[in-house]
Amino acid sequence: MARTQRSGALLDELGEPDGIPLYRHVYRRIREQVLTGSLASGTRLPSTRTLATDAGISRKTAEEAYAQLETEGYVVRRGGSGTFVAEVSTRRRREIRLAGRRTLSARGRAIAATTACVEPSEVRAFGAGLPALDAFPFDVWQRLLARRARQLDARSLVYGDPAGFPALREAIAAYVASSRGVNCDASQVVVVSSSQQALDLSARLLLDPGDEAWLEDPFYPGARAAFLAAGARAAAIPIDDDGIDVAHGVRVAPNARVAYVTPSHQYPLGVTTTLERRLALLEWARRSGAWVVEDDYDGEFRYDGRPVASIQGLDRAGRVLYVGTFTKVLYPSLRLGYVILPPDLVRAFVNARTQIDGHPSTLMQSVTADFLSEGHFAAHVRRMRSLYRARRDVLLEAAEPLRDRLTFPTTHAGLRATGIFSGPGPLRSLAKPSRGSAVSGAFMKAMIANDVSGTLVDDHAIAARAARVGLEVAPLSRYCIDVKRSGLVLGYAGLSPAAIRAGMATLAEVLW
Ligand SMILES: Cc1ncc(COP(=O)(O)O)c(C=O)c1O
Repeated sequence: MARTQRSGALLDELGEPDGIPLYRHVYRRIREQVLTGSLASGTRLPSTRTLATDAGISRKTAEEAYAQLETEGYVVRRGGSGTFVAEVSTRRRREIRLAGRRTLSARGRAIAATTACVEPSEVRAFGAGLPALDAFPFDVWQRLLARRARQLDARSLVYGDPAGFPALREAIAAYVASSRGVNCDASQVVVVSSSQQALDLSARLLLDPGDEAWLEDPFYPGARAAFLAAGARAAAIPIDDDGIDVAHGVRVAPNARVAYVTPSHQYPLGVTTTLERRLALLEWARRSGAWVVEDDYDGEFRYDGRPVASIQGLDRAGRVLYVGTFTKVLYPSLRLGYVILPPDLVRAFVNARTQIDGHPSTLMQSVTADFLSEGHFAAHVRRMRSLYRARRDVLLEAAEPLRDRLTFPTTHAGLRATGIFSGPGPLRSLAKPSRGSAVSGAFMKAMIANDVSGTLVDDHAIAARAARVGLEVAPLSRYCIDVKRSGLVLGYAGLSPAAIRAGMATLAEVLW
């Protein structure tokens, strides 16, 4: 039986919010107690109604504080049974406590308290997101690298252009214009070390502490981390069959400064945002003066249907920042990405870039520029697209025997597939989709197929069982905020057909 915390004790001497929004003050007070261990894991917190009455705050403030605690993983909310203190490891408690004692800034504490995604560093079923590194064209890459290395002289050792190696900026502009419908010239391209750096720069430059930012629900952890580190509040905007529910966003967070979206291939559901929604998003951004950060992290890999052009290419008001990365199309340790900016933002981004680290290695930028401009990149993408399509087919075939339990509604693109639980399994009580959340369409029906009594398959428990037999599967509920879903995110592009089949067979044993 969970211990229930009285709200009086929880917010003894609430104190002054000290210039920050009241909900954030409440959130910090509770978070402190979770981190110091004075609120033990599993403790049930008072309902928002009780907390509001006892602490003399509004229910909305209590609700926002709990929502933030949940988003950051300090509490777990179970529809019907309440809000509970989550497991926070002793090591993490100590790290955060020490960071606090060494008097980090408020921003520093926000950074220390958030974690982005930790991508796998080895290839194993079904570690999410790695490309087929065994199929990388090492011979061509080594030849280009050797050629550039031979050309090194004293002039090439000085600082480079902080906006990026000029030939690479040109090559990127030509590539995104022709293959992703992006409307730009090289002067709008800033080369960064990763899309994560582009998100971090966007959050630093476009958001003030307390500002709201739209985050897709389910969300990409890297984006959430960048927003929270900037002190912003994440407004969860549900994803349905048509992509991000713009009307919901306009209802709940009309004044948000930024909307982060993955419209080509939503992370992690895989949905493609329709043209109508893209236009609605742009219209809202134009009217409200918000920025749209479009993360096109794997838009190259579409296997069925026609490729979808970028939102940036539809934008006539200069509100879109288009983010791309070479992590998926080349390899993660290259650490190169780019952001295509509205012209009036370029100077600020280049300045911010200079203050952080200058620029990525000129040598590697020049090799990448040659790879693109000499046609190797286009050939590599074509080869990988057909390889990944074949691997996707193997995955779906191997998943056939599981179809009563796990279905894959959106597998038309990308390096991962998200399976949705649709049968009986270890259940845990979760909140129903929140009021006003869109849950229409076949995709969403699959999502909540087994959610007949407010319960969903416990995907965390399944992921933990899978880990014990050597499989790496990410529980979908990990990425969910308001609309609760249960499933598994499986990376497959980097795996051989044999590894995919063997992994699926092991997963089947875990599920039965
Ligand atoms: C949505 C999304 N954006 C970006 C990336 C890649 O990021 P980076 O360029 O920071 O390596 C990933 C990696 O998995 C991703 O899932």
